[in-house]
Formats: sequence, structure tokens, C-alpha cells
Amino acid sequence: MQKPATTEVPIDQLISNRWSPRAFNSEFVIDKKSILSLFEAARWAPSCYGDQPWKFILFQKEDITPWVSALNCLSVGNQNWAMDASILIVVCANKLFAHNNEPNRWSQYDTGASAENICLQALSLGFAAHQMGGFDEIKIRNLSNIPEQFDILSVIAVGKPLDEGVFSQEQKDRELLPRKRKLLNDIYSNNKW
Ligand SMILES: Cc1cc2nc3c(=O)[nH]c(=O)nc-3n(C[C@H](O)[C@H](O)[C@H](O)COP(=O)(O)O)c2cc1C
Repeated sequence: MQKPATTEVPIDQLISNRWSPRAFNSEFVIDKKSILSLFEAARWAPSCYGDQPWKFILFQKEDITPWVSALNCLSVGNQNWAMDASILIVVCANKLFAHNNEPNRWSQYDTGASAENICLQALSLGFAAHQMGGFDEIKIRNLSNIPEQFDILSVIAVGKPLDEGVFSQEQKDRELLPRKRKLLNDIYSNNKW
């Protein structure tokens, strides 16, 4: 299902067509090359000092035991739909610069950019990505042995969007909600705050 942004001025279609669906085809398996393409897109995000503070942990539905463990780290509301996605990606950011071990105050900024690259690349491959902040950080840290030096920022569900024709009523109600944004004029100003 397409849900393009209603823009005040034209933007690139890849950006306007990206959205966060919750209805995925539960049977669909994403091939290895496409998964690598998502991480390749992340790899080419810009970062402060070129530090590349991001690290991703992949869970694939075919690998059922870790998949179920990762799903259990999500909030119940997220589990309900994310179980139909094909992969989950845990997004982590190094709090320290690699070159000098000093605090990197741009690490979350940079890692967010790499996460958006994953979402846009997913769309360009015919998939959809949905980022989540609703997860139990301690559970995920323990599950994947994530060092304290890394923040755990989000989990991204990626899968094949479900055909609108087979939506349940609940999915219809949820997926057809309009996308909302602030007005263009409300998000920037000239010269002063
Ligand atoms: C960091 C972050 C955390 C989010 N957490 C959740 C979440 O836990 N559950 C959920 O259903 N959506 C979550 N979302 C998706 C947002 O609700 C969604 O991006 C927003 O409503 C805009 O909709 P759009 O992505 O379709 O344009 C999150 C998005 C981001 C970027």
C-alpha cells in the first residue's frame, strides 16, 4: 500500500513514499543480498570525523529462537505487528569516538542518519521499514551482549508490505490513518529562532 506524503512543494519520491506500515506479509523472507544492501546503505551515511559510530544487530525470522527472543524485547503493542516482519535490526551507537575514546556528542545524530538510509533503501528494494523506540533496553542488551559503551537507539522492522486487499478490519483502521506533519513554515525560520 502506498501512502505518499502530501507535500507543500515537491520532494524526491523515495522520501515522500517512505512511511511506517504495520501490516507485513508474514510469509515473506528477505534474501541475503537485499539485507546486505540495507547495511551497505547505512555504511554510506555521513558521520562526524567519519567515525561511523553505528553498529547493527540483525535478527532473521528463519533463525527462529533468536527471532522470538528479540520479538519478546519489544513492547506488546509492537510485537503484535512486528511479528509479521521478516527481519529486525537493533540500532546501536558508540558513545565514544574510535580515534581517541573521547565522548562523541554526534553519535546519535550520525546513527539516526544511517538508520534513515536503511529505511529509504528498504523502500527502494520494494520493502518497508518501521522504526521502534518501544522496546526493553536491558533485555536487548543482555540478549545480544551489547557493551555499555553503546547506546541502543531503536529496533527497525523490515518486511514486505501486506497487500491492501487482504487487510483485516483492524489493519484497515490502523494503516489508513492519515500521515500528519507540522507545516513547513513551523519547522524553520530565517536568521533568528
Ligand atoms: C525513533 C523512533 C521510534 C519510533 N517508535 C515507534 C514504536 O515504538 N512503535 C510504532 O508503532 N512506531 C514507532 N515509530 C514510528 C513513528 O510513529 C512514525 O515514524 C511517525 O508516526 C511518522 O509516520 P511515518 O513514518 O509513516 O511518516 C517510531 C519512529 C521513530 C523514528
